[in-house]
Amino acid sequence: MPEGLRASPRGFDVIGSIALVEFRRNETRMQKKAFACALMEKNHGIRTVLERVSDHEGKYRLPKVKGVGGKRTMETIHVEHGCRFHVRMDKAYFSPRLSTERMRIAGQVKPGEVVGVLGAGVGPFPIILGKKTHAEKIIGFEWNPVACTLMRENIALNRLDDRVSVVQGDARRTYKKFMQACDRIVLALPFNSLELFPCALACLKPNGGRVHFYGFSSKKPGMFSWPLKELKALAYTKRFSIQCKSMRIVRNVASSRVQIALDLKVAPLRMRNH
Ligand SMILES: C[S@@+](CC[C@H](N)C(=O)[O-])C[C@H]1O[C@@H](n2cnc3c(N)ncnc32)[C@H](O)[C@@H]1O
Repeated sequence: MPEGLRASPRGFDVIGSIALVEFRRNETRMQKKAFACALMEKNHGIRTVLERVSDHEGKYRLPKVKGVGGKRTMETIHVEHGCRFHVRMDKAYFSPRLSTERMRIAGQVKPGEVVGVLGAGVGPFPIILGKKTHAEKIIGFEWNPVACTLMRENIALNRLDDRVSVVQGDARRTYKKFMQACDRIVLALPFNSLELFPCALACLKPNGGRVHFYGFSSKKPGMFSWPLKELKALAYTKRFSIQCKSMRIVRNVASSRVQIALDLKVAPLRMRNH
């Protein structure tokens, strides 16, 4: 088919054997199908082409997706940094776009650490940390039952049953089982990281530790300072002080919106005696 008659989407992710494509609004079904065929012809690993119809939304942060071409399935096995993940595009969040972040955090974990991941999805953070570090224990907190089932399966798939575990339920309550137990917390739920920050603090050992905060901000000067100000205020109410060791833009999520990451050193607040 001539180039002009084929869709030219905004972009796509390849997740295992599935290409998840973000088409432009004016593209017709015929153009989308032609693009899907061309994509599968060029990349033999791609067997299914899905269209991402909506952004990540709702309680479990799921995009609406529909089939465009190839094998009719929503499931695949995705390989990231040598780890295997069973994913279901329509039932549990998964994005390959955080793969660099997962390795970046792995680079900071010290042997023997206990790490909590709040909003663990199908387990990419806990499993990559399990495989790439000598952490003693990694706990993935997640409330989507399908994601929890997949995370358990992925832990077994990657032979990490002895060090990685799943805590199913609302992390705003389940964190209580791990009060003062962790050296490090990954707040991997950018939509509600601020709300979960006090739970993260409560999970840290009495001497404090590290929190990796993921959130969204407007792409403009001050994009790091307002969340940091809120985090400092929240930490103060829980008698902790925080020091930001690094800040970065993880990715653009819209023309003026970015996902940010803040690496925080948390310590108990030393009260002055006078
Ligand atoms: C943006 S996804 C990230 C998933 C995973 N960390 C990843 O990188 O693939 C956020 C996840 O947090 C979960 N979540 C949101 N609020 C939660 C809560 N209060 N308790 C437990 N899980 C929660 C959602 O179900 C979703 O799977």
